[in-house]
Amino acid sequence: MRKNSLSTIEDLSNQQIEDVLELAGEMQQDLRACYGLASGYLMASLFLEPSTRTRGSFESAMKRLGGQTITTADAATSSLAKGETLADTMRVWSGYADLIVIRHPWEGSARLAAEYATVPVVNAGDGGHEHPTQTLCDLLTLKKEHGALEGLRVALCGDLKNGRTVHSLTLALLRFGAQIIFVPGEGLDLPDYLKQRIVSEYGVPIERVSAKDMDLGALFEGREGDSAFLNAVYMTPTQPHQLAIHQQDALVKFASKGRPLALYMTRKQKEREGSGAPGAYPKVNARIMSSSSLSKAVVMHPLPRVDELATDMDQDPRSKYFEQAWNGVPVRMALISLILGLKPWRRATDTAPGKPQVLVAAEGLRCVNPICVVNKEPQNAHAEVVFYSKPSPWFLCKYCERQAPAEYFIPSGQTHSRPIKELMVSSMDQLSRLRFLPDRQSAIAAGFPPTLSEHSKVIEVKG
Ligand code: NCD
Repeated sequence: MRKNSLSTIEDLSNQQIEDVLELAGEMQQDLRACYGLASGYLMASLFLEPSTRTRGSFESAMKRLGGQTITTADAATSSLAKGETLADTMRVWSGYADLIVIRHPWEGSARLAAEYATVPVVNAGDGGHEHPTQTLCDLLTLKKEHGALEGLRVALCGDLKNGRTVHSLTLALLRFGAQIIFVPGEGLDLPDYLKQRIVSEYGVPIERVSAKDMDLGALFEGREGDSAFLNAVYMTPTQPHQLAIHQQDALVKFASKGRPLALYMTRKQKEREGSGAPGAYPKVNARIMSSSSLSKAVVMHPLPRVDELATDMDQDPRSKYFEQAWNGVPVRMALISLILGLKPWRRATDTAPGKPQVLVAAEGLRCVNPICVVNKEPQNAHAEVVFYSKPSPWFLCKYCERQAPAEYFIPSGQTHSRPIKELMVSSMDQLSRLRFLPDRQSAIAAGFPPTLSEHSKVIEVKG
C-alpha cells in the first residue's frame, strides 16, 4: 500500500485482502472484544457525497475499537465550499487526525488526497471510479458463502458503467480467478478501459454469451428468453493472475461454464452522467428467483436499492444484502487496525501489492475525463499516465484510470506521425520523450500528418 493508503483495490495484494478478511472474521465473533485497541486515535470521515452504510460503518468500527471520529458530511459546511483545494484540505486534516476516510465526487480524488496527506487515506468512493472498502465487505460475504475466495462465479448486474462498487469488485474477483458474467442494464455496460484492462492484464478474452444460454434471461422482466447478450470472463487454471494465490483445485472445480453462485445487483447511478437513460434493466424479485437456474444463487446488493431488488426477497435465505452491509463494521475494524499498525499483517507480501505501474508523463498524453481530479485540480495533480503494452501501446490516467487517448505518435526527427500500434517500446525513458497525438485530426492540426506508407512497420524505440 502506498503510504498505507487505500485508493483503489489494487493497492492491496491478495495476501493483504486475505488478512483483512481473516481479521474481520475474528473481530466479528465479538465486536466488543477489541474495545480499546484504537484508544487515543482519531479518524476523520470526510463525506462530500451522500452515504449511509459506508460512513456509518466506518464510524461504528472506529468507535468499537475505542477510537474517536470527526465528521464532515456536507461540502457546504467545509472550506471546500470556499474554493479550498483538496490538496490543502488534506494537508490540514493530516494535523487533526491519524487516518482520513474520504468520499468525493471527483474520480481519482482519493489518490490525489493520499499524495498530499501525511496520514493514511482510505477511499470511501471517488465518483464513479472505485469503492475498495465495499469490495472487502462483498468479498467477506462471498467467502462466508463459498468458503474461499477462489473459484467464485458471480453475475454483476445493473449499472456497470457508473457503479464504482462493481469496478473495484471486478478487479478483485479477477485476481482470485473468478468467473464473471456481466449483466448490464441497457447502455450501462462495463467501461471500455476496464474491459481493456481485463484483456491486457489477465489475458482473458471477454466472451459474448446469450442471456438465455446462461439461464439469466429472467432477470430482464418481459424480455425472458429473447436474444439479449451478455459479456462473460472465464478464468481457467491456465490463466491465473500473476499475483493471485490460487488453489488450483477450487479453480478446476468451477472451470466449466455454468450457473452463478451470486447475483450482485446494483441500482442505476442516476446522479452520474449517462446513467439516467431509460431501457431494459436487470431486476430480482421472488418470482424471478423461483426459476430453477437461480435456485442456489445468493443475492447481494451494496445498497441503497431502488426498484431493481424487490422487498419480497427480504425474508429469503438466499438474500445476503443486509449481512453484506453489517459486514462493513468488522471489515472496517480490521482495515483500520491494520492500517494504523495496531494489528500486524499476517501473510508475508514479498511482491509489490497490485501490478507495478509504469508511469509516463509524455507530451500529448492527458486525461479527457472532465470529472477527473487532474482536470478539477490541475495545479496539484501530477498528470502522468499508466502505460500498457498489450495488445498494442495504450495509456490510462493515473488518477481516474480512464483511457488517455493516443492514436498517433511522432517518431523523433520525423515530419509525420505514425499509428500507435506501430510503436514498439523498449525504453521507458525514451517513451517519456515522445510526443503523442489523440487522433488523426489533431495530428494534422499539429503539422504532423499521419504517414501514408502502405507498408506499416514497427518502430522500435531504444533508450
Ligand atoms: C454504494 C456507493 O456509494 O457506491 N453504496 C455503498 O457504499 N454501500 C452503492 C450505491 O450508491 O449505489
